[in-house]
Amino acid sequence: MSHKILEGKKGIIFGALDDQSIAWKTAEAIKNAGGKFVLTNAPVAMRMGAINDLATATDSKVIPADATNIADLEELVDQSVSHLGGKLDFVLHSIGMSVNVRKGKHYTDLNHDWMTKGWDVSAVSFHKLLQTLYQKDAMNPWGSIVALSYVAAQRTFPNYNDMADNKAYLESIARSFGYFFGKDKKVRVNTISQSPTLTTAGKGVKGLDGFLNYAEKTSPLGNATAEDCADYTVMMFSDYCKKVTLQNLYHDGGFSNVGVSQEIIDALQKD
Ligand SMILES: NC(=O)c1ccc[n+]([C@@H]2O[C@H](COP(=O)([O-])OP(=O)(O)OC[C@H]3O[C@@H](n4cnc5c(N)ncnc54)[C@H](O)[C@@H]3O)[C@@H](O)[C@H]2O)c1
Repeated sequence: MSHKILEGKKGIIFGALDDQSIAWKTAEAIKNAGGKFVLTNAPVAMRMGAINDLATATDSKVIPADATNIADLEELVDQSVSHLGGKLDFVLHSIGMSVNVRKGKHYTDLNHDWMTKGWDVSAVSFHKLLQTLYQKDAMNPWGSIVALSYVAAQRTFPNYNDMADNKAYLESIARSFGYFFGKDKKVRVNTISQSPTLTTAGKGVKGLDGFLNYAEKTSPLGNATAEDCADYTVMMFSDYCKKVTLQNLYHDGGFSNVGVSQEIIDALQKD
């Protein structure tokens, strides 16, 4: 897909860690659609170095920022507006991390300090980002801000652990802050609820293979890939959906509205 629907638009992309990251594929798709951007990630993620390859390939600048740190976010927004030569049209928040998931802690035995850390990184960082953009008046009217979510915010998936709570909080922030961003600045704020996807964050979920297969067999269109998600985000950043805001948009091949599929029934049928 190479329609230049983001020609002249500029923004910030959070969360490209390696070439499997949803944010990485989104950066490539935005570049193909004519958009310009700054790439950012936590300083610790910079050490892996891969983001610099993406920066070279997409002709973009990298500015490190810990998304939980207001001073970092302020510096990032100021530098991005100055580097890109004006206010922003789009921002992608593609950030998620649970210490409890990483360390294999069961939901019934969580470490609550780790829970608070994961909540700050995965959900509160979105409020911090929105507040920084809002207070600095850094977005152009009809700009679009997207964060990535997962259906565990609404339905129970045993191994998604405290990330389910973080995603519920993230989606609520999108609605609550989106109201003020819409009223005061004509800026859209939405979350995209993406299919399970094989990425560094995705691989942290216990039993991911079974999870992916189950979603694949349940979804009438099959799982949405990271590339599909990137295309959807490009559309959300374009002028083709200027009145879409405060929404949690399912991008999951239909998974979220299926009770059970025939494939799953067949797999469980005894005779
Ligand atoms: N992979 C899936 O199955 C799936 C499904 C639905 C939604 N999502 C969501 O998509 C988003 C992107 O995840 P992904 O699957 O591409 O994995 P990923 O591991 O490639 O991306 C997660 C990113 O978060 C960044 N990050 C962590 N702490 C940070 C901090 N303090 N400041 C700034 N950045 C920080 C990491 O460096 C990494 O780049 C996440 O919100 C994730 O929850 C993923």
